[in-house]
Amino acid sequence: MMQVFYTKKELTAFIAETKSQYKIIGFVPTMGALHIGHLSLIEYSQKSCDITIASIFVNPTQFNDKNDLKNYPRNIAQDIEKLGQLSCDVVFVPDENEMYPVTDNRMFSFDGMDSLMEGEHRPGHFNGVAQIVSKLFALVQPDKAFFGQKDFQQVAIIKKMVQKMNLPIEIVACPIVREPDGLAMSSRNVLLTPQHREAAPLIQKTLLLAVESAQTLPLEKIKAWVVEHINSSEYLKVEYFDIVDENSLTSLKRFQRGKMQVGCIAVWAGNVRLIDNIVFNL
Ligand code: PAF
Repeated sequence: MMQVFYTKKELTAFIAETKSQYKIIGFVPTMGALHIGHLSLIEYSQKSCDITIASIFVNPTQFNDKNDLKNYPRNIAQDIEKLGQLSCDVVFVPDENEMYPVTDNRMFSFDGMDSLMEGEHRPGHFNGVAQIVSKLFALVQPDKAFFGQKDFQQVAIIKKMVQKMNLPIEIVACPIVREPDGLAMSSRNVLLTPQHREAAPLIQKTLLLAVESAQTLPLEKIKAWVVEHINSSEYLKVEYFDIVDENSLTSLKRFQRGKMQVGCIAVWAGNVRLIDNIVFNL
């Protein structure tokens, strides 16, 4: 039977007991509105850990846009049911006072990795992510933490944070889960209008074509084409598309053979902002 904890006190007692039994703890932090992508992270954790803990907390400090925070889908009762059905061991559902009993003024530095792409368009976003993830890591003390590769930049930044803070936590990046038509699963997809939902699969279709074209076309041409192709839909507007080095996230001027490079994109579909990415493995 899954246990639901609302306080740090309950969680801390459980962690102490679990650690005394030398059990491997897997952790899946989420903001709720769980979809199949989140549930796949729970399953990855269950495959390699003794105990799987999920958290649900819509973290206000990572929202640069007040409306996005207000409209972010919330469905705690359904989320708890879904996790219970998967036999997740524990779900931690703190409120804002539990997580931020005092204002968190900490400023993290990610050596520029946080000011590109998502960071450029969502100022302060990654600092907020680092604040909450570092607090959750301190409480849960997981051996492994599981994140979706859809948030490619977030995974790279959390890996960097773990290195900088010397945390003994393995960060596991798990594959993007997609709808049958290719749209990357996201909690925000439920906010799309029928027209925007119908248009949205063009994002991944375009990225797949871009990877094919990379055999013959230069990088700058591909970048321009991706933006133009997606913007040709009246329902989609590209915010940025960049092809970056997998580790440093620096923007590349030309493809590098034998190296992993990742095309990262953010697209507005009406009022909903969608992100996706694809690996260029040449
Ligand atoms: O990816 C998310 O859902 C959030 O950024 C995370 C990691 C749960 C932190 O609030």
